[in-house]
Amino acid sequence: MDTRIIRIFDTTLRDGEQTPGVTLNAAEKLEIAQTLAKLRVDIIEAGFPAASPGDFAAVSEIAAKVRGPVIAGLARTSSKDIDAAVNALKKAERPRIHTFIATSDIHLQYKLKMTRDEVLAAAQDAVRHARKFVDDVEFSAEDASRSDRDYLCRVFTAAIAAGATTINIPDTVGYTTPDEFGALIRYIREHVPNIDQAVVSVHCHNDLGMAVANSLAAVLNGAGQVECTVNGLGERAGNAAMEEIIMALHTRPEYYRAATGIDTSHIYRASRLVSVLSGIAVQPNKAVVGDNAFAHESGIHQHGVLNNALTYEIMRPETIGLNRNALILGKLSGRHALEERLKTLGYDLEPERINEIFVKFKELADRKKMVFDRDIEALVAEKASAMPE
Ligand code: KIV
Ligand code: ZN
Repeated sequence: MDTRIIRIFDTTLRDGEQTPGVTLNAAEKLEIAQTLAKLRVDIIEAGFPAASPGDFAAVSEIAAKVRGPVIAGLARTSSKDIDAAVNALKKAERPRIHTFIATSDIHLQYKLKMTRDEVLAAAQDAVRHARKFVDDVEFSAEDASRSDRDYLCRVFTAAIAAGATTINIPDTVGYTTPDEFGALIRYIREHVPNIDQAVVSVHCHNDLGMAVANSLAAVLNGAGQVECTVNGLGERAGNAAMEEIIMALHTRPEYYRAATGIDTSHIYRASRLVSVLSGIAVQPNKAVVGDNAFAHESGIHQHGVLNNALTYEIMRPETIGLNRNALILGKLSGRHALEERLKTLGYDLEPERINEIFVKFKELADRKKMVFDRDIEALVAEKASAMPE
């Protein structure tokens, strides 16, 4: 079987941080970036350096400290934005400038107040400017899915000729459908003459609940990079959820003929960390990482799973780093059980700290019938310095 490797571009720290109500401080961003590196994502979009001094500082720190993935900084097509990204990425092992401009007529008319020719020239100039500083330049055509196809192809052709090494096709407003988006990717691959010189990327939003399906349709039609966020965080209804994309490819390699380089055993911890730090809870029935994703309530299902888990499970919880045998703790659980659970969750704590948490755990267990992992994480998070590495 011919298996393509799909690059995973994580934008939790940039688009994900655009989730209404979410702000992450520099230390939290660094912690998430380190976890993404353990997951072995290919690219971390660390932020938008020109957006604020805080974003600039966070991107600079991640660029200096996180090793492994490419570190990307977002920039509009202005030289000022690109220069800010270049400066923030100075210490990155493998920096990428990600520059974007909208290509749909509605954005040109009401937002940019530019003509199609002006936008095409701005895209080309921006890529050329960025290439003076880095070898790895991504160009995104914002609102691509609502842009005129042939104009879009002209813009991508010009961006690649100017030196773009990745061209990104966003469904910025979550408007498209899997069939339509797959056909758009195929059309671009067939009508951009220099397309073989760039990686084709997609970036889907979830306004109609189709971000993951649209991204996977793009993979089936030749996309080589998928942009996504942990837990599907992002503007409005969010971005394509990373864990769903990864596990779809992992579970059906014969169908997608594609794989990722992700270490799936870090998926659950990454999801929990992002949920705790962003303050955005994961819904219980969320695919892959929700509390119920591997829970079997019906007696018939339980019986089947006990005989052979494959009867009702298409993925193994262990694959995402979730211990199937993890018992829900309660008021009869002892200190040893709590200590073991803390270790499983990735916490390496001093005995005195475990004693403190044990006291709080007992108080909580008296009030609740069951103490879940997320309750234990909340007890640990009461002291931020105790988060896992
Ligand atoms: O949704 C979008 O179009 C974006 C671009 C900046 C890639 O986030
Ligand atoms: Zn976006």
